[in-house]
Amino acid sequence: MASTQIVGVDIGSGSIRAVEVTGVGSKRPSVARFFSLPLPEGAVKNGEVIEVNTVAAALKQLWNAAKFGSKEVVLGVGNAKVLVRDLSVPKLSQREIRESLATHVQEMLPVPVADALLDFYPISEAASESGPVVNGLLVAAIKDSVLANVKAVQLAGLEPVGVDLIPFALTRLTSPSRMIGNVAHIDIGARTTNVIVTSGGVPQFVRIIANGGQELTAALADRLSISEADAEATKRNLGLGGVTVPPEQAPTIAIIREVTGNLLTSLRNTLSFFSNSRQNEPYSGIVLTGGGAQLLGFADALSEMTRIPVVLGDTFGSIDVSRDASRGSQSQLGMNVALGLALGGAAA
Ligand SMILES: Nc1ncnc2c1ncn2[C@@H]1O[C@H](COP(=O)(O)OP(=O)(O)OP(=O)(O)O)[C@@H](O)[C@H]1O
Ligand SMILES: [Mg+2]
Repeated sequence: MASTQIVGVDIGSGSIRAVEVTGVGSKRPSVARFFSLPLPEGAVKNGEVIEVNTVAAALKQLWNAAKFGSKEVVLGVGNAKVLVRDLSVPKLSQREIRESLATHVQEMLPVPVADALLDFYPISEAASESGPVVNGLLVAAIKDSVLANVKAVQLAGLEPVGVDLIPFALTRLTSPSRMIGNVAHIDIGARTTNVIVTSGGVPQFVRIIANGGQELTAALADRLSISEADAEATKRNLGLGGVTVPPEQAPTIAIIREVTGNLLTSLRNTLSFFSNSRQNEPYSGIVLTGGGAQLLGFADALSEMTRIPVVLGDTFGSIDVSRDASRGSQSQLGMNVALGLALGGAAA
């Protein structure tokens, strides 16, 4: 029987976050414990574990500190090397569809099929000239980039029971009352921005953009000739600036607005692409998460640019949290991906 007590682990560029959920798959799952630890620079890049031993040691430390009751782990994938595309396949069982994926997808992939992990997420059924088909999302990840993460988990004495797409995890936290119509979930990390659009709560469209908050820090450090640490602090202090900008801040704010403008434009284009593919169906809202989204003024700028209402994701808003977990000293902020991964449960 599938386990109901699972720890979702989000290995980000700057830290590892883990959330343990009990009652996974039941009507009322609940957060038992959660914890995060910072990672040394360079241990993880673009969601890929580079230093396996460092990450394994951090995971051990995390388990000791958090006292998780389960060793079963669900990992997330979501970096620019993961491909998610629309795919229609003849209607078969999910197992048969999975087995047939390799024959459908070689021309879509930048690597040989043998080097990829393939999965299919069904969305709807339709009739075609050659019989019934299932429309869905093909997910293709490069094996090597997932295996290092799995290895770090195993080295820490834990059991990886699933690997899930980070964008899917994002959709599991939003309360059903917010899921009416088309909703875009956008998570801005350090190096990756994950976008997923749901219709009535069902995932329809995924894009993974290789851009995040780190791009802005790096641009400030480079163009102002200051250290990364100073650039990070400057960015957090100033954000996009107000209506009136003091003259001494003007050059810095100009850089922040320019670099952030690139990300805003990609996001607007990504959202329009989906909407245009559906006869300009409107969005009812954007749910914004991730550290990069905390840039002062960003949520308003995104709303202004897209003309869509933006709400900041409320990590534990729609789920029970145990007393133990809520008494802890750790912040819920940034736990959204790890929680969404745990809620999805082990792989079928
Ligand atoms: N208050 C803030 N203002 C502006 N940016 C912020 C703020 N707090 C965090 N950030 C930025 O958020 C980014 C980190 O976000 P997050 O923790 O979600 O990333 P991650 O999950 O570790 O990385 P990734 O998802 O790319 O692997 C960094 O670029 C950091 O500078
Ligand atoms: Mg992240």
